[in-house]
This record gives sequence, structure tokens and C-alpha cells, in this order.
Amino acid sequence: MKKATITIDRLRIIATIDNRIYGSFIEHLGRAVYDGIYEPTHPMADEDGFRKDVIQLVKKLNVPIIRYPGGNFVSGYNWEDGVGPRSERPTKLDLAWFTRENNEIGLHEFSKWLKKVDSEMMMAVNLGTRGADEARNLVEYCNHPGGSYWSDLRKSHGVLEPYAIKTWCLGNEMDGPWQIGHKTAVEYGRLANEAGKVMRWTDPQIELVACGSSNIDMPTFAEWEATVLDLSYDQVDYLSLHNYYGNPTDDTPSYLAKGIEMDEFIKSVVAICDYVKAKKRSKKKINLSFDEWNVWYHSREADQFNERWQFAPHLLEDIYTFEDALLVGGLLITLIKNADRVHMACLAQLVNVIAPVMTKTGGKAWCQTIFYPFLHASLHGRGVALQVNVDSPKYDCTQFTDVPVLDAVAVWNEEDKTATLFVLNRSLEEDLDLSCDFRSLKASGVLEHIVLEHADLKAVNSVENPDNVVPVQSRGASLAGGRLSCVVKRATWNVIRVSTKV
Ligand code: AHR
Repeated sequence: MKKATITIDRLRIIATIDNRIYGSFIEHLGRAVYDGIYEPTHPMADEDGFRKDVIQLVKKLNVPIIRYPGGNFVSGYNWEDGVGPRSERPTKLDLAWFTRENNEIGLHEFSKWLKKVDSEMMMAVNLGTRGADEARNLVEYCNHPGGSYWSDLRKSHGVLEPYAIKTWCLGNEMDGPWQIGHKTAVEYGRLANEAGKVMRWTDPQIELVACGSSNIDMPTFAEWEATVLDLSYDQVDYLSLHNYYGNPTDDTPSYLAKGIEMDEFIKSVVAICDYVKAKKRSKKKINLSFDEWNVWYHSREADQFNERWQFAPHLLEDIYTFEDALLVGGLLITLIKNADRVHMACLAQLVNVIAPVMTKTGGKAWCQTIFYPFLHASLHGRGVALQVNVDSPKYDCTQFTDVPVLDAVAVWNEEDKTATLFVLNRSLEEDLDLSCDFRSLKASGVLEHIVLEHADLKAVNSVENPDNVVPVQSRGASLAGGRLSCVVKRATWNVIRVSTKV
């Protein structure tokens, strides 16, 4: 069996991880909200119409922040339609997804749901069809204590205390021609600056995320980031990145190496942020919010044939394979490796729409394959991210050369006195004999070795067979003199947890 070694040095700290990198996203899209989190006629619905089974699964994922209400949807959304008496709320055409929105769920209902799942809102404002005025009104409505038109309106809607929403996205994917109110970098940069300015004047506590590119392949990528930041640097705190991954040509060796592409994307955006910082002689550092990332390709073709103006249709309902879960694990490793600059990230999305949690309308809720790596990272990936030295065989594939078969990162939780090693074996053929040097952490025992494995790369979970791809506990790992030994099987996601004496 081929060998791989990993050395961990507890002094090689990347950063203390901002837990918000385990964020997610709920958009008014397809069955994410209606027939997803909210289904008042479901036997498991609570007093507010929210599905308790979905709440339970979302709580399990321990998601600290959830982006809302879009996505493309937000660029045509009037937030005022979703507040006030429900009987007076209008039904409108949503031009982002060509569906109908009845506004039964809006800001207050979603906030209520967030409390039930112990999460916080990352609120996006509409900079597609609207501008600075509506954005600052929304901040005033949400965050101002009272004594002004919008804050008193909130109170009249029954919410006396301000929400104190901290994180705000200045629009969504404004570089994309598909976006309602698509803009050039100069148009958007100016608008982000002016909207950000009045939002911050309304509530100086807020943090603002400007739109970066919709993906790394956008023709305007890099120039977009540089121009937007040049025009809005003093008003924004974060720059967003979005990217979806897929394996449409069934080239799994390249697919499993996509973490490299994500890493390059992050490093390039960091370089641009720092270039603008230098150019402006600024002391301020812009960090990153990777606020849309996931696998998305299975449902794209089917979605083209959707009839227009349906209410809560099945849209973007990718059914994820086992290999998708492996990639999601790899992408999580990349996010953790970049924890010094990526302070927020949102798995897009959370329920039914390209999601880890699925529901059958009137039926059960179930977990997709990708639920598990996200769960593991969210639960065990909190603390300090440590750089690891990986010595592993390498491979070449269509899209990359010299890809390490093992991808890994470690997280040390000083409070719990545990360390977790996340490991992806990208090889489709070879198990690896892994030796990991944990001496600097004074590792004293193996707590567990969780493995996500399956003989079929294309295996999926479903409502009928929800436990087809689920993690198992492996018994083979051993620790002697601070060195861990175990076998990392081919094509597996591994979570190796040890107790530490430091
Ligand atoms: O998450 C689905 C869509 O992907 C979002 O609405 C949009 O921002 C992105 O293009």
C-alpha cells in the first residue's frame, strides 16, 4: 500500500476560524421557503407553519448565519411586500426565476424561523431595481430602536425590539447579465459605495459585503473586483465570491481536484483586495465572504423546461451523489485552509434548492450525501485552523497536474482539548497508509475516525432510501508516541479526531 504522511505543528496557525464560514443560504426560490422550511398543512408543522423535522435537521448542522432572501430573487424584491398584515401582502411575479411569490413569508416570519434554528440573518438588499433609499429604509426598519417612520412601522408590525442584523450584502451578482438590474463595475461600485454609506450612517454597527464576481469564469473577473473596491473601499468590509462546481463530463479525477480551483479563486481575490489596499495606502483589510458555493449541475437541464409563473415549483433540486459529497468535503478543506481571509461562507443553499436537506411535500425530510461533510466541518471545524504538511502521492488529470492524492487540514480546539484532521482521499484506486505526526499537540488518544465511503461514486440518498450514503465509524486508527496511523481508503472523506494535552 502507498504511504502518506502528515505533520501538524500547532505553531503554524492559519487563523482562528470565524464560525460564519459554516453559513448557508435560503432564497425565495423553488421549494426552499414554501414546501421547504414552511409547510403549514404538514403534520410536522409547528404553530407558525414551520416544519419541525426540517428545523431539527438544520439545527443539527449548527449553521451560524443564513443569507436571505436571495440570490437573484433579491434583485427584483420589494421588502415592504413581505411585512405587515399577511392578508394585505401582494402576490407578485418573480422575474429571477419566473415564478409567483405570495409574500406569505417575509422578514418577520423568516426571523422567527432563524430563532428556531439558532441562527442569524445575513440580509441582502436589492441593488438591482432599487437603490440607496430603499436599502437605508430597510436598515432603519430592522435595526433602529424607534421614533422614526420605518422603525415605528416595525413596531406597529409587532416587533418592538430592533433585530440588530449585523451583516448586509450590497445586492447580488451584479456582474451577471442574468441579474435583474445588471450593472457595469463602475455603476455598481458607485452604487455600493453610496448605498453602503447611508446604510452605515443609519446603523454604524453593521458590516457590509460588496459583490465580487459571480464565478471565476466571468469575463470581467478581476477587473470587476478591482474597480468595485476602488470605488467603495472605505464603505465595505467584505468582498463576496460565488462559485458552483459540477462534473458534467464525468471526469471524476478532475472533479475531485476542484478544491485547487477554489483555492486559486480565493488567493486571486485576496491579491486584488490587497492591491487596492496598497493603492489607497489604506490600513483597512478587506476580507472575503464566499457566500455562495456548492455543487450545482444535476438539475440545470430539467429546469429549462419549467412552466412559468408557478408557485413554489421544483427548481434546482439537484440530487447529490457520493462523489459530490467528496468534493464538498474538499471544498470545506479549502475554506478552512483560507480561514485567515475567508471569514464568511454560505453553502448554497440549505433546503430543497441545491441543498443538503430535502423534503417531500406532505412527507418526510431527508439528508442528501453532502449533508455529512458539511455537518462534520461545522461541528468539528471550530477553533484554530492549522497548516499541515502533507507528503502524499500525486496525480495528473485533464484539468490539473500534480494533484496531491490526499488533501487535508487540521483544526485545533484548545477549549475542548481536541484536534480534528479532515482528510480527502482523491484516488479512485488506492487506499493509503497514513501516518500523522500529532506530537506538537500532545495527542493522547483517538476519539473517532469517521469515514464517508461507498462502492458506487454515483450513489445517492432519496426519501425512500435516505441512509444509502451515510458516515460510518472506522475502528483501525491507532496512536503511539503522538503519531497516528490509519488507512485512508480510496475515494473517502475522513474526519479523524484526537484528544490533546495542550
Ligand atoms: O443559488 C442559486 C442562484 O445562484 C442564486 O440565486 C444566484 O445568486 C446564483 O447565480
